[in-house]
Amino acid sequence: MKQPLVIAPSILSADFARLGEDTEAALSAGANWVHFDVMDNHYVPNLTIGPLVCKALRDYGITAPIDVHLMIEPVDRIIPDFAEAGASVISIHPETTRHLDRSLSLIRECGCRAGVVFNPATSLDVLDWVMDKIDLVLLMSVNPGFGGQKFIPSTLTKLKLARKRIDESELEIRLEIDGGVKPGNAPEIIAAGADTLVAGSAIFGADDYGRVISALRGEVDTA
Ligand code: DX5
Ligand code: ZN
Repeated sequence: MKQPLVIAPSILSADFARLGEDTEAALSAGANWVHFDVMDNHYVPNLTIGPLVCKALRDYGITAPIDVHLMIEPVDRIIPDFAEAGASVISIHPETTRHLDRSLSLIRECGCRAGVVFNPATSLDVLDWVMDKIDLVLLMSVNPGFGGQKFIPSTLTKLKLARKRIDESELEIRLEIDGGVKPGNAPEIIAAGADTLVAGSAIFGADDYGRVISALRGEVDTA
């Protein structure tokens, strides 16, 4: 029941001084979504971008789905702002809200798709109780906070477990992987069940975005 592969470049590694252009370049090169990393220097040790920048990308003319990954706490106050700013998907870490069920419902009430994110050492158990409230499961294959880190191999086992839960649910839920994804490990990540690949440094660190995106899809051998 896997859905078509989505490539979501993480703009954390884009050129922030030319963010609209650089995001557009990745989309024109074959990417499907824009992965938008929001960090608060509290839940994670880094500080990035908020709803104003999301809206600026929409105003610039970006029409692709914007996949907002919230690494902040708390989340409820800012969810409506992101919806208003043009977010398509909003994903939250369970430990950043006291009431996960309520926060996920809030995301959908605001008109966005809802995602739940698991850190490398976080169990998938919570999925048993939120499956009907989510459109996406995001597995972190690095500890959140920075781009350019190394893929944690145990995530492959976790991907298989998440894929099984999603298939058994018979619901339309995407399985996304975030952190250290590159053409070299994409085949095993896809084989383990991911249908949505986030890649930041692999895409924006390359001269030819299109070649890396094709390589992530397995269409060319190397990037
Ligand atoms: C990390 C972020 C990722 C990051 C991935 O906390 O959630 O989206 O940008 O970057 P790469 O692909 O370079 O590991
Ligand atoms: Zn992310």
